[in-house]
Amino acid sequence: MIPQCDPKAAYLRYRSEINEAVSRVLDSGWYILGDEVSQFEVEFASTMGSCYAVAVGSGTDAIELSLRACDIGPGDVVLTVANTAVATVAAIVRAGAKPLFIDIDERTYNMDPSALEMAIGRVPGKRVKAVVPVHLYGLPAKIEAISEIAGHHGIVVIEDCAQAHGASIGSGTVGSFGAFGCFSFYPTKNLGAMGDGGAVVCQTASQQKTLLALRQYGWVERYISAHPQGINSRLDELQAAILRVKLPYLEAANRQRRQLADAYTAALQGEDRIACPSIPEGCSHVFHQYVIQLADRERIQQELRQQGVATAVHYPLPVHRQPAFSSPELSPFALPNTERVCSRILSLPMYPELSEQDVMNICQALRHALRR
Ligand SMILES: Cc1ncc(COP(=O)(O)O)c(C=O)c1O
Repeated sequence: MIPQCDPKAAYLRYRSEINEAVSRVLDSGWYILGDEVSQFEVEFASTMGSCYAVAVGSGTDAIELSLRACDIGPGDVVLTVANTAVATVAAIVRAGAKPLFIDIDERTYNMDPSALEMAIGRVPGKRVKAVVPVHLYGLPAKIEAISEIAGHHGIVVIEDCAQAHGASIGSGTVGSFGAFGCFSFYPTKNLGAMGDGGAVVCQTASQQKTLLALRQYGWVERYISAHPQGINSRLDELQAAILRVKLPYLEAANRQRRQLADAYTAALQGEDRIACPSIPEGCSHVFHQYVIQLADRERIQQELRQQGVATAVHYPLPVHRQPAFSSPELSPFALPNTERVCSRILSLPMYPELSEQDVMNICQALRHALRR
């Protein structure tokens, strides 16, 4: 079976370096917030084109802590999309704010800036304090347009970059446009740890200082807390050491993902029952997922499984349809594109260790399934 994703393949690829890094940490006797984390923070910030990075326990925490760092909480509204990992929304709720969903562009799957503009105008009382666009599947959202609209209304932009390490738009890397950029290092991500992990990137020393305190009980010095909003959300030394091994290979791995995506798109050309990913001018997509749209998805998925190809759906139920977040209060705006794509999207296998021959075989199996 060709898996849809394969985090073990990345381990095997860098096995000796990773094992060495893990032994180094185990032998050091220092397991939480030491040199590995602080060096990783410097290296990650520089790779992402930002001034600072603060490593935290997960991508969900990265978003929650960024919102808290902006003093966003109860009584505030945060606009985001419903076609995302539920974590984006869970983080907003954990910060105490109210998420409201706005629609996406149905070709890019990302936030539609015109829906943002419309929504800001319709929420009474200047309660909208932040917008959280998601760079879904590795494609940058229209972050310049979103930032301009947000700036005009005095709203903070917090980028959800959990699926887009190293993606860029124009000359900027995702995460460097908003006040904060939030990353996840869940094992299947473009930069994946071997456990949970996350990071926030930011541009000023005072933002960094606030985040450093918030991730550790609000401490401004050992045992002295100045932020009641502080939690415990620390990347551990083992994960930081593993990420330091993988970080220098990120660009090459993203290049491999792009080559595989090109191979998929070329092999599926002329198949008018399938919509391949579209990449707006000036965007560098890092293909966390290669997502196509087609009719009759469940049948095709089942046929592919029978032919030895595993696929996935990101996401089968948009967040506003999930029991935890289905209150009509959270969905005052129509979401026609979100609704339409969720029954049509299919994520084909995508990870750097996949071969172009695998891609050819997958496309052949897909054409076969479509003909039946
Ligand atoms: C778009 C998006 N946002 C946030 C998250 C949350 O990251 P984590 O699982 O590290 O908490 C994820 C991870 O699944 C994600 O894909």
